[in-house]
Amino acid sequence: MKAAVSRRAVIGATPALLAGVALGSLSRSAAAQSPPSRAAASGAIRLAGNENPYGPGPAARAAIEAGIGDSWKYPIIEEMAFKAQIAAREGLTPRHVLIADGSSEILHIAALLAGPGGGELVTATPTFSFVADHVRAIGGSVREVPLDAEMRHDLMAMRAAVSPATRLVYVCNPNNPTGTMVPGGELREFLATLPPATTALVDEAYLEIASDMGKHSLVDRVRAGDNLIVARTFSKLHGLAGLRIGYALARPELIERMAKLKLVAVSSLGLAAAAASYADPGFQAASREQLAASVAITTAALDELQRPYAPTRANFVFFDTGQPAAAFLAAMRELGFALGRPFPQYPTWCRVSMGTVEQMRLFADALRAYYRG
Ligand SMILES: Cc1ncc(COP(=O)(O)O)c(C=O)c1O
Repeated sequence: MKAAVSRRAVIGATPALLAGVALGSLSRSAAAQSPPSRAAASGAIRLAGNENPYGPGPAARAAIEAGIGDSWKYPIIEEMAFKAQIAAREGLTPRHVLIADGSSEILHIAALLAGPGGGELVTATPTFSFVADHVRAIGGSVREVPLDAEMRHDLMAMRAAVSPATRLVYVCNPNNPTGTMVPGGELREFLATLPPATTALVDEAYLEIASDMGKHSLVDRVRAGDNLIVARTFSKLHGLAGLRIGYALARPELIERMAKLKLVAVSSLGLAAAAASYADPGFQAASREQLAASVAITTAALDELQRPYAPTRANFVFFDTGQPAAAFLAAMRELGFALGRPFPQYPTWCRVSMGTVEQMRLFADALRAYYRG
């Protein structure tokens, strides 16, 4: 297959895109201040990290600027206030909340609770591998359960894989890299079957990309006192991946055990930005809308080209390239798009993260040209 879109044409458009041409209802002045991404510096549009290409929002940017003068202080009071802000919205107490260095730190701490002494993790495959990697690194064992035929977590098979040695069960919902989601009701039923000593870790990093989060979040089971950690992040919808803020919601006894394994406090500017973004529903709604538009552009092109893809609930699309994924990824790189890595379980599939609407139009054109060229 030959590509008809020239690399120069695509790259030529990149600086204008990064300067905010396609921001729609989002802040243009804010985008104009964005430094170019690393991928942009190397001449490619970055569609690899499942970030929000529009973030941070206007309120977060203002909070960062306002917070610079206070950044000589340890943000102890600010962290307490942020916990209270989250707890109030979730119907919990601040003792149910742990603020961390991105949700990665929450996943890391959960692995530290599970792995020692050969402790066992049950996880899907493929999924976000951070927890499994850490459990292995500290000598624990990992039972991997393939996704089902629809590329969703196979909860029955995962339940069957749980043994008396299982300390942690990880469910990434929606799942990375497939974007598929298990409905909240099914997940609650699954949770109810786990042995009381097995902790469930539900990673909701992408859940708020869609607007019906309330129905599918497992936070109600935290309120009920289950042996459960819900992990969330400001790196995705809120567009703050570089500022490293995430949090866990869990019953106070579990949060206390986790807090002892936390390394240090988070950054004051990250906290300020996250708290402002949390209280900025306008930016969140605009981001949702733009990311959904990007998904629609991408899936329309895939439909036209008859390329199968998994139904996504996230800000990325997992699709069948029809050839070894590494070759496709290299061809896309040549056309100016940086798309991430192959997943060995699905050798011809790859994941594309949503960029701005304008970037995804360019990507869709590149796909058409590549397959039809
Ligand atoms: C499913 C999932 N969970 C957690 C993370 C970690 O995000 P962060 O540490 O930036 O909050 C990622 C990052 O890509 C992810 O995909």
